[in-house]
Amino acid sequence: MPALAGQVAIITGASSGIGAATAVRLAREGMNLVLAGRRLNNLEAVRRDIQTRHGTTCRSLAFQTDVTSADDRRRLVGETLAAFGRIDVLVNNAGYGHRGPIELVPLDDIRRNYETNVFALIGLSQLVIPIMRKQGSGKIINVGSVAGKIARPLSAVYDSTKHALEAVSDGMRGELAPFGIKVVLIEPGFIRTEFLRVANEVSTDVWSDPGPYAPFMDKTALNIQQASSLAGQPSQIADVIAKALRARNPRTRYAAPGHARFLVFLRRVLPDRAVDFIIHRQLGLHARRLRPMR
Ligand SMILES: NC(=O)c1ccc[n+]([C@@H]2O[C@H](COP(=O)([O-])OP(=O)(O)OC[C@H]3O[C@@H](n4cnc5c(N)ncnc54)[C@H](OP(=O)(O)O)[C@@H]3O)[C@@H](O)[C@H]2O)c1
Repeated sequence: MPALAGQVAIITGASSGIGAATAVRLAREGMNLVLAGRRLNNLEAVRRDIQTRHGTTCRSLAFQTDVTSADDRRRLVGETLAAFGRIDVLVNNAGYGHRGPIELVPLDDIRRNYETNVFALIGLSQLVIPIMRKQGSGKIINVGSVAGKIARPLSAVYDSTKHALEAVSDGMRGELAPFGIKVVLIEPGFIRTEFLRVANEVSTDVWSDPGPYAPFMDKTALNIQQASSLAGQPSQIADVIAKALRARNPRTRYAAPGHARFLVFLRRVLPDRAVDFIIHRQLGLHARRLRPMR
């Protein structure tokens, strides 16, 4: 019998990509799952798939949830307790990325990105921690990114939200250890999901009127396209999450797939200027001075 069988997990952002793959993976472990996201149709499709494949060993529920809404977060936790009576695992996965130069991305858009990627994660954790503390056990998995280690020009909004998760996860890990609650940060690299489509959608305004940044944004778009050939599968991240959950003493961080581990290693060993050189060269930002523009 797998060690996770019968445990109860909430997974945010379970309607696509990494969250959906994690739901399928944890269902295979025999866990009971609560799937959260805004697109109820997608959640129901994931749930049906799980029930078809693992219906005899796994119970799953789908709750339409906007993680940025305090009411939705309370309802999600309340309904989970009502259905299962406990919460063993919280996978804080919901997130998206806004692109564009800091000068041009409207502050409200930056706030929205932080609301989803950082404040909602903290808000949901605040509701779940007291429950895990009473149980004397639990695991919180925060889905960060390699972008939490390496911040790129024209992506600083998203990258800074993931940098914040590095600190939030480190702090929580120490605070919660005395209560038997483990906190793990997952650092995915490029993964083939709906992430790029959503990033393009939310960044359309800046992307369509980039002013003096136009040459770099074109190069960025090209780079992103090229990088997507490296992209791993969501199931690779789901496997890593399952591994972290099965471990009695999980690592503090798991970067995956291989290219993500390599990038994290490079960031650790290279000085800032060398990292800048590599990234700026990619974007055509090196040794280039544009004429002053209004
Ligand atoms: N793909 C990559 O290359 C990559 C790399 C590193 C890290 N990540 C991180 O991995 C996580 C999952 O992303 P993904 O790649 O799987 O992309 P995805 O396919 O776009 O999935 C994002 C998920 O987040 C959910 N979400 C977004 N805003 C939400 C909100 N306000 N309330 C509830 N759910 C919300 C979406 O559900 P609804 O739209 O239904 O609400 C969706 O299920 C994100 O945190 C992302 O930053 C991704």
